[in-house]
Amino acid sequence: ERQIFVTRHGQSTDNLEDRIGGDASLTPFGMKFAKALEKFIGEQRKSFALEKVRNKYEQEQKWEAYGLDSLDLADQGAAKDNGKRSAQDIINSNARALSNSQFTVWTSMLRRSKESAANFSAEDYDIKHIRYLNEINSGERERMTYDEIKKHYPDEFRARQENKLTYRYPGMGGESYIDVIQRLQPLIIELERMTQSCLIITHRVVLRIILGYLLDWSREEMPHMLVPLHAVYELRPKPYGSQLKKWQYDE
Ligand code: F6P
Repeated sequence: ERQIFVTRHGQSTDNLEDRIGGDASLTPFGMKFAKALEKFIGEQRKSFALEKVRNKYEQEQKWEAYGLDSLDLADQGAAKDNGKRSAQDIINSNARALSNSQFTVWTSMLRRSKESAANFSAEDYDIKHIRYLNEINSGERERMTYDEIKKHYPDEFRARQENKLTYRYPGMGGESYIDVIQRLQPLIIELERMTQSCLIITHRVVLRIILGYLLDWSREEMPHMLVPLHAVYELRPKPYGSQLKKWQYDE
């Protein structure tokens, strides 16, 4: 089992003005979130490792009650060496080893996303910046507010409201949700294939698509998903669907 955490970047100066797209930096509040995020993930990672080891230990005790050895040879060796130690000692030391195992942090190539990962050390985390995780490109409407678009391009505004999924922003590089779904496909395959836990720090549209995919939302519903800033989602992939938990950071 593994943990998949997904969140948006911390609050940016463009978020304050309600501007879409762009490449703004974090506000002081956004930076506070970034700090809290590192601490939170560290704690979650530790308690997950503990939980995993404790479950395994309990399982082994059950086998032993039947006079059977654990099937895991490496564990058997460790169990013998650990013969004189208390159950809690064994659990703690195994959990320490586990929590040192690989954990990936993915961000987009945009400033606000990278800055949100700035507190994660390269020693403890495998950090990657990936262009595919960038926010939807709003073409000629980059850095405008929704009010400005509504005022100057009312037809475009309406068209997008009527069909957010297929509406493509005008101008060079402008994208629709469908376009973003397409470019995320290789990444989603990679996410499903990898076995280590990870944190993805991305943007509103990309977050909706990743969560929507993992939680099996329809394409039509997904662009309307409520995903506030500073909310952290944890998914644990299970044989049938994913288990979801959500936390909201408030100073
Ligand atoms: O406002 C933040 C933002 O990430 C923009 O950069 C982006 O265009 C927008 O949200 C996407 O949300 P929606 O699809 O609801 O307009």
